[in-house]
Amino acid sequence: MNPKLFDVKVVQIRQLTPRVREYLLTTADGAPLPTWTAGAHIALHLTSPTRGLVVRHYSLIGGSGLQDDPPNTYRIAVQREEHGFGSNLIHETFKAGTTLRIGPPVNSFALDRSAPKVLLLAGGIGITPLVPMARSLLRRKRSFQMVYSGRSVDQMAYAQALKEMCGEVLQLQCSDTDGMLDIKKLLAAQDPDTQVYVCGPTPFINASIQAAKSLNWEEGRLRSEAFISSVLAGDTPFKVSLKRSGRDVEVRGDESLLDALSNARIPVFWDCRKGECGLCATKVVSHDGELQHRDRYLTDEEKQQGQSMCLCVSRTNGKSLVLDL
Ligand SMILES: Cc1cc2nc3c(=O)[nH]c(=O)nc-3n(C[C@H](O)[C@H](O)[C@H](O)COP(=O)(O)OP(=O)(O)OC[C@H]3O[C@@H](n4cnc5c(N)ncnc54)[C@H](O)[C@@H]3O)c2cc1C
Ligand code: FES
Repeated sequence: MNPKLFDVKVVQIRQLTPRVREYLLTTADGAPLPTWTAGAHIALHLTSPTRGLVVRHYSLIGGSGLQDDPPNTYRIAVQREEHGFGSNLIHETFKAGTTLRIGPPVNSFALDRSAPKVLLLAGGIGITPLVPMARSLLRRKRSFQMVYSGRSVDQMAYAQALKEMCGEVLQLQCSDTDGMLDIKKLLAAQDPDTQVYVCGPTPFINASIQAAKSLNWEEGRLRSEAFISSVLAGDTPFKVSLKRSGRDVEVRGDESLLDALSNARIPVFWDCRKGECGLCATKVVSHDGELQHRDRYLTDEEKQQGQSMCLCVSRTNGKSLVLDL
C-alpha cells in the first residue's frame, strides 16, 4: 500500500445538479485532515470488481459560501460523465458510511493572492477549484472577477451559492440564454495586471490558452488546470508488448495504458496519474500508429521525437506499441 494514502468516510451526499453530486468526506475518528490551499485536489483510489484500481482526481471545495468546513472534512463535487467509469462508480456506490482511500491534497493550480487583479474563469464542472479561490479573495477583500460559463443555470453546480457569495463580481454565462462565451473578447478586456485562472474541460482550456497567445500575453499570466482524464471518447484498443519481460498486454479503448499494465501486475512507477510528475514516463521501442501524448511533463521536442511517453494519460491510435519494460 502507498504509505501516503489514508481512509475517509462519506458522511453526506447532496445532489447539486442532475449530473453533479457533492460528497462530504471525514475522518472516522474526527482527527484533522492534511491542510490544503485553494486550487488543490485529492486522488480517490477506488477499487472496481471488474477493473481493479481506479484512481480519479477531484478538487477540494472547502466549505459552503464563506463558511469553512471543519478541519476533519473534505468536500468534493463529482460530475457523472456519460460512459465515464470512475464518476459512475462513485455515483452508484458511494453512500453515507462508505469508506474510501484517498491521497493527500496536491496543489498544481495555486492562487497567487498578491496579484493586483484576478479573473477566475470556469467552464462547467471546472468551477470546483475556483470556489475556494473566490472565497479566499473575498475574505481578503482582493479585487477579482469571476466568469462561470455552462450550458444552463440548472446544470451549473454552485451557481446560486456563488451568486450569493460573490454578488456582482460573478458573471454567469449560460449558453442556452446568453450564447457562447467569447473567451478572446473577455481576455482582451482585462487590465494588463490581471492574472487569470482558468479551469474546465480540455477544449475550454485550449481555447483560453489560444486566446491568450493570440493577444500576445506573456507566459504565466494565464494559469490553467485541465480536468484531464486518462481516456477520451474515441480512444481505441491496442496491444502493448514489453521488450524486457516478453509479455503482451491488451489495452482496451476505455482504459489507460497504466491501468492495463497495473491490472496485468506489471510493476510501473506512478504518482500523479495525470501527466504532470513524469514518474510513469517510459522508453518507447516502436509503434505502428501515432503516439498521442496528452501529458504536460515531456517537452514538445521530446513528444515529437517519440522516444518516451507517459503511461498514465498517453496512448497510441495504432494497433501495437512496444515499450522498454
Ligand atoms: C486535477 C484534477 C481535478 C479534477 N477535479 C474534478 C472535480 O472537481 N469534479 C469532477 O467531476 N471532475 C474532476 N476531475 C476529472 C475527474 O478526475 C475524472 O477525470 C472525471 O470524473 C471522469 O472520470 P471517469 O472515470 O468518469 O471517466 P473516464 O472513464 O476516465 O472517461 C473519460 C471520458 O471519456 C468518455 N468515454 C469513456 N469511455 C467511453 C466510451 N466507451 N464511449 C464514449 N465515450 C467514452 C467519457 O464520457 C468521459 O468523458 C478532475 C481532474 C483533474 C486532473
Ligand atoms: S504518473 Fe505522473 S505523469 Fe504519469
